Amino acid sequence: MDTSLTPNPVHTLKQQWQHRLDLREQAQQKRCLRTPLAIDFVSNDYLGWACSSPPIYSNDNVFFMLAQQFSDAHGATGSRLLSGQSTTISALESAIAQFHQTEAALIFNSGFDANLGVLSSIGDRHTVFLYDELCHASLIDGMRLSMSRAVYKFRHSDCTHLAQLLAQYTGKNIVIVLESVYSMDGDVAPLAEIVALAQTYGALIVIDEAHATGIIGTHGEGLTQALELQHDVAVRIHTFGKGMGCHGAVVVGSQVLIDLLINFARPFIYTTALPPWSYATIAQAYARLQTDMHARAQLQERITYFTQLVAQYPWYKYRVQWLESNTPIQGLVIGDVTRTHEVVKQLHAAQLDVRPIFAPTVPAGTERLRICLHAFNTYDEMRLLSRTLWEAVRK
Ligand SMILES: Cc1ncc(COP(=O)(O)O)c(C=O)c1O
Repeated sequence: MDTSLTPNPVHTLKQQWQHRLDLREQAQQKRCLRTPLAIDFVSNDYLGWACSSPPIYSNDNVFFMLAQQFSDAHGATGSRLLSGQSTTISALESAIAQFHQTEAALIFNSGFDANLGVLSSIGDRHTVFLYDELCHASLIDGMRLSMSRAVYKFRHSDCTHLAQLLAQYTGKNIVIVLESVYSMDGDVAPLAEIVALAQTYGALIVIDEAHATGIIGTHGEGLTQALELQHDVAVRIHTFGKGMGCHGAVVVGSQVLIDLLINFARPFIYTTALPPWSYATIAQAYARLQTDMHARAQLQERITYFTQLVAQYPWYKYRVQWLESNTPIQGLVIGDVTRTHEVVKQLHAAQLDVRPIFAPTVPAGTERLRICLHAFNTYDEMRLLSRTLWEAVRK
């Protein structure tokens, strides 16, 4: 048999992989892994808790006490539904539920897993999902996995558009999906208006509090509690890899929601639980939320200072635009891939770690710099950043 004419599927597939990468390279949008530079304006460690040792609290702090009870074993040995369960994890979840002023809580291995788990299991193919167009990839993938045939986006934070869609699907089971602080634009959702719409149309709300956890609210409880809307939002997802400085995520809501997730959320069921020391870091971070008001105040001072600093320059003259944001996430939209790379090169030459964001992470034409401010950034660093940016965009 002449095998030379038989196509080699492995070879063909590999060629396709290379072709897809080449296309990304040609568009100057190929992702690659880079180690951090000296001055951090990129990490989500907004409060600086990821690298600083947690304080010692007295034993009347329930989270601190729980943190001491986890072993420092390397592994969980199984899924929560098998050998990965412990009474201490359940006690931690009860304390977290109380902190978030709701009935129950369930810890997931990451925010991505939590979003996949929630959205793939709370509905069925008849459920209508209405989501903000800037929602995170994990929320979108979760809705895809739900098998729903009715997944529609509304224009970013546009309540008029949302109301139109709600009216269109009246009588169906509707889920509204949004974030409290948008991960790429840094703006805050109009949650009170969305809650009012949800009540009018009998819709249920899922909110991803990833970038609000630790940041918004007197104790960093998130946007929902800051607005006292905890009884009006059915599902909240808090992630721990950002302001909390550790890893994992929690879904908080009613007991029936948590029971549903334990039974149907595949990213919870079919995975090894977090290692015990990881739960201990989560408990430590909650202890810190309750007691450390200083880091949040310091962060807010930096946000105020930085936004005033950049407001002094007429950026519009050079066709770039700062996104309006009062959160640690600041965005300078450049709107052109090559120019964005050039600006970033100059920042990196000054050891300023800011990363460019391209499509498909953000819509094409809104290529930008995503700048994260931290409680630990110095005023000198912020001045250096604004000056270097201004010089770079004027070139
Ligand atoms: C809005 C939002 N939700 C969820 C996630 C995922 O969280 P994690 O990093 O814990 O998987 C992210 C992280 O990028 C995010 O920005």
